[in-house]
Amino acid sequence: MNETKTQPRSYKDIGLVNTREMFRKAMEEGYAVPAYNFNNLEQLQAIIIGCVESRSPVILQCSEGAIKYIHPVMLPHMAVGAKAMIKELGVDIPVALHLDHGATFEIAKACIDSGFSSVMIDGSHHPYAANVQLTKRVVDYAHTKDVTVEGELGVLAGIEDDVSSEVSHYTKPEEVEDFVSQTGVDSLAISIGTSHGAYKFKIKPGEEIPPLRFDILGEIEGRLLNFPIVLHGASTVLPEYVEMINMFGGKLDNAVGIPEDQLRRAAKSAVCKINIDSDGRLAMTATIRRVFAEKPEVFDPRKYLGPARDALIAMIKTKNESVLGSAGKA
Ligand code: G3H
Ligand code: 13P
Ligand code: ZN
Repeated sequence: MNETKTQPRSYKDIGLVNTREMFRKAMEEGYAVPAYNFNNLEQLQAIIIGCVESRSPVILQCSEGAIKYIHPVMLPHMAVGAKAMIKELGVDIPVALHLDHGATFEIAKACIDSGFSSVMIDGSHHPYAANVQLTKRVVDYAHTKDVTVEGELGVLAGIEDDVSSEVSHYTKPEEVEDFVSQTGVDSLAISIGTSHGAYKFKIKPGEEIPPLRFDILGEIEGRLLNFPIVLHGASTVLPEYVEMINMFGGKLDNAVGIPEDQLRRAAKSAVCKINIDSDGRLAMTATIRRVFAEKPEVFDPRKYLGPARDALIAMIKTKNESVLGSAGKA
């Protein structure tokens, strides 16, 4: 990212917004803003159409891997295109472009300078003091450009770009006030039992999915009054798509995620941003596998990426309408 020369631009010139007002409204009205990851055109189109059709604010989220995959020069143009498409669709929804799991100051700065309106600096794998130092450095730079910053305390299990962990460590509520006041972050990602990817819990047949630690969330809410909290690793790992993938030649054994009722409860709390990537991947993969199985003669990418995009639009509308509560809030 930092090795490629991107044209300096402000997100404001693209018509994007930072997350400040989005989170203020979400906190006041008791819902969560969806943060959907994208890596390609069809995912971006689906997020835009799904959120326009459900009148939802949206955070377009890109990991460092996604930025490399798309190309850092191409990416801001996709955001420009997304805003133009929204205008054409005739419903103006607030859109933020957010760096997901930024690992270094240099990556965060490169994103800010190329048109991102929000960045995450994920120092959660560092010792506390180093996390504070790194996060504060990003905040100090980001705020000169009116870009909002998400920090993280506590470690989620699972694999992300450059940061991975076998086990999770819950956020320590006693650290949150000091972290927020020392760093100046605008929102805080916490660890209360979610994890990244499609295998969130190792459970035996007949066993229940362990509930999220709402007690820890409650303690954090009590210490950081009205402060926006972020939930990563929040895919439900929708069983219909897991079953479809397995039915059409895939192999996803024991894939399980966060039940929707727990996400509904979180969305009504100080959790203002819910991150969803895996469910979108599953919806697209399941649909593509079905097309390939049922229509082996197909080789035009539009004939399988198009239905995959439609499935993602439907999934996003359902999440916004009946899980996050963001539908109608744009
Ligand atoms: O939390 C990580 C996101 O799902 C992004 O995943 O690093 O494979 O793009 P990625
Ligand atoms: P999932 O893997 O549960 O979709 O989480 C995505 C995420 O947290 C992106 O930062
Ligand atoms: Zn994440």
